[in-house]
Amino acid sequence: MQRMVSGMRSTGKLHLGHYLGVIDNWLKLQNEYECYFFIADWHALTTKYDKTETLKQDVLEVAMDWLAAGIDPEKATIYVQSQVPEIAELHIYLSMITPQNWVERDPTLKDMAKILKSKEGMASQINYGLMGYPVLMSADIMMFNADFVPVGIDQVAHVELTRDITRRFNNIYNTDFFHEAQPKLNECSLICGLDGNKMGKSFNNDIKISDTAEVTAKKVMSAITDRSRMRKYDPGHPEDCEVAFKYWKIFGSEDEVETVRCECEKGARGCADCKRQLGAKINERFAQIRERRRYYEEHPEVVKQILADGSAKARKEAQNILREVKNIIGMY
Ligand code: TRP
Repeated sequence: MQRMVSGMRSTGKLHLGHYLGVIDNWLKLQNEYECYFFIADWHALTTKYDKTETLKQDVLEVAMDWLAAGIDPEKATIYVQSQVPEIAELHIYLSMITPQNWVERDPTLKDMAKILKSKEGMASQINYGLMGYPVLMSADIMMFNADFVPVGIDQVAHVELTRDITRRFNNIYNTDFFHEAQPKLNECSLICGLDGNKMGKSFNNDIKISDTAEVTAKKVMSAITDRSRMRKYDPGHPEDCEVAFKYWKIFGSEDEVETVRCECEKGARGCADCKRQLGAKINERFAQIRERRRYYEEHPEVVKQILADGSAKARKEAQNILREVKNIIGMY
């Protein structure tokens, strides 16, 4: 079976963007590939090194969201990056063969640096660890000699760099040990935030997987609709409805979407009623996931055990690969 590695930074409770954009995709992939899914707490540390109070809990929150959503530890290996220290060791070896200008021209890193610099109170310096972000990511991927890396479009440049580093390693050490991992673009529905912008934790426009039905309903009521529509019985323009109708297309059946469209265009459906129904629809979709999440919240020891088992399993494989790598390089 072909192997897949993918990770998410430990950012705490995940939102519907994560669910629809990444997790939903993983749910299928875990049946078709040998999957290694991990929580990237070192990557989180590259920017949050001075705010570590929530770090442990953030890892657990991500794990609970994954498990509740149906990522299955019987099918996929689920682990925590920092619990597999072999990754850090591989990162050292890769850092030796990675030319400095390769990381300097990494577009995602450039964007991150720009955001960091624009944030008040953030040191305008990029730390050494953040510079190594893409090399660490290469170590994540190469640690398990992955064939594919399911990622969003924003991460493709990183996977390309991983391929460059892989080729360089194989070249320098005259080997074909490492596979060139291919990015596998997520087939996903992009969901925007409640305000029409990209959904994001820090933009205050997200719906969390773990939000209660009440909170979700309330948030959905705040979603932007057709801005030109003033009165309830004015004819609406679903295609100009910036958020609510887009959500219908994601969460409603074809018939439902058509009904919403017709009623809106005829002025037979007010935005408030429409969003009340939409909220209920979203809650229906996540009811079971949320119920499972509550179980894990009440049993954190179960979650910790799953992570410990997954990390031990990943570590065993990482040790095999690292032994081979050291051998190839000619280390003591
Ligand atoms: N950089 C990724 C992100 O921000 C997370 C990540 C870290 C990752 N290591 C990885 C993804 C390895 C895929 C493979 O989303």
